[in-house]
Amino acid sequence: MVKRKSAKPSGHKELADYLLGKINDRSAKIGIIGMGYVGLPLAIEFAKAGYPVVGFDIDQKKIDCINSGKAYIKHIPSEKMKILAGNKKCSATTNFSKISDVDCIIICVPTPLTQHREPDMKYIEITVEVIAKYLQRGQMVVLESTTYPGTTREVVQPPLEASGLKAGKDFFLAYSPEREDPGNKSFSTGNIPKVVGGLSANCRKIACEMYNSVVSGTTPVSSPDTAEATKLLENIFRSVNIALVNEMKVVFDRMGIDVWEVIKAASTKPFGYMPFYPGPGLGGHCIPIDPFYLTWKAREFDCATRFIELAGEINTSMPEYVIHKLSEALNGAKKSLNGSKVLLLGIAYKKDVDDDRESPSLRLIELMKNVGVNVDYHDPHVPMLKKSRKYNYALKSIKLTPENVRKYDAVLIATAHTDVDYKMLGANASIIIDTRDAMRAQGRTKAKVVMA
Ligand SMILES: NC(=O)c1ccc[n+]([C@@H]2O[C@H](COP(=O)([O-])OP(=O)(O)OC[C@H]3O[C@@H](n4cnc5c(N)ncnc54)[C@H](O)[C@@H]3O)[C@@H](O)[C@H]2O)c1
Repeated sequence: MVKRKSAKPSGHKELADYLLGKINDRSAKIGIIGMGYVGLPLAIEFAKAGYPVVGFDIDQKKIDCINSGKAYIKHIPSEKMKILAGNKKCSATTNFSKISDVDCIIICVPTPLTQHREPDMKYIEITVEVIAKYLQRGQMVVLESTTYPGTTREVVQPPLEASGLKAGKDFFLAYSPEREDPGNKSFSTGNIPKVVGGLSANCRKIACEMYNSVVSGTTPVSSPDTAEATKLLENIFRSVNIALVNEMKVVFDRMGIDVWEVIKAASTKPFGYMPFYPGPGLGGHCIPIDPFYLTWKAREFDCATRFIELAGEINTSMPEYVIHKLSEALNGAKKSLNGSKVLLLGIAYKKDVDDDRESPSLRLIELMKNVGVNVDYHDPHVPMLKKSRKYNYALKSIKLTPENVRKYDAVLIATAHTDVDYKMLGANASIIIDTRDAMRAQGRTKAKVVMA
């Protein structure tokens, strides 16, 4: 354990006022642990607001990029990285002993699922052990990683208190979920309000003050558990509604009804309806994963989470449905899946981002390869496929030229990136399987377009 620093007031109210004062005059040093899709934009917001910021990560490459102003996330270009790199008050490091020098510690590490689809808490656990080693009186610790209700109290608080310091008295502890939506042109870290739940009234007040200075407002809630549950409700809501519209897609397709036209028409209702769109399945680090954090925790309370399970079932069956539609379309051209050449368009899980985590495109490649399809892909944001826990394909993005497109029996649009020439595609492909309604704007095309 490192030596505790002691130039701080002794009473806990005075300690809270001391930190609030530092937040108000922007002298509070903000430490962010985990400089990925969530931590990096947050660090930039704090730096923009005038705070000294230290970014912590175990990945030396990211640290080097931050310190030299080099971009490593597509939608955070190097001009934005310069906000950190060009600022003497900001730095990034793999040296976690510097945690003892910061005033506020924000945890943004991954929360994936294990192979058995249970919460994988190891990143949070390791991080909390490290923080406990360097924890100081008067510091604030906020968990932002998405997780099940109870995590802050059950997983974060006990190891921190093993340091001998008490949460709510000697240090401040809160949970505030991240709502970042990478690639969203209208909303990013700075203008998305944050929900904040503190372990005590002071914990909540300090966390709210800190976030109010960098985001467009906070919604304080009664406990960290409530804030944790809020995040899960938001993502379960998305997962269930996407599953619903995916199911509608299959049903309406059989009836000869265009689900996209139906959604557009339903969206004109000014109340009680909110559009969600079908696709080839769920992807990303959040929606396919987070709902199962609640399922796991609900078991402890003998509760079933049937909506979550059903939505998961429907959404994960979508790649099979898409391949079935591809098979039918090839069949119509007297071709079989086995031996056919298919160009998959889009590896990222959503348009205009470079994030391929949990992308249904990877499952689509697997399904096609299993039945003998020769698959290539094009993605302007993913130049080559990285090895992941589940997949290891040696594929590189091919150039999207008319000559290349003509070589394939079918083009399968899994992600409708903006940087794709759909007109050229329509003029040169023989069959297009469109899971994103990307071809509608092209009107009649030479290619046969099949919605899937
Ligand atoms: N990506 C999103 O859009 C999004 C949105 C809302 C919430 N979240 C949640 O935020 C959390 C972080 O997600 P992300 O997308 O930023 O993940 P990410 O993988 O992009 O970034 C996590 C970072 O943490 C680092 N890391 C891992 N272990 C570490 C450790 N022990 N110490 C320090 N750094 C460590 C990794 O190297 C990586 O840079 C997750 O809980 C996720 O569910 C993500």
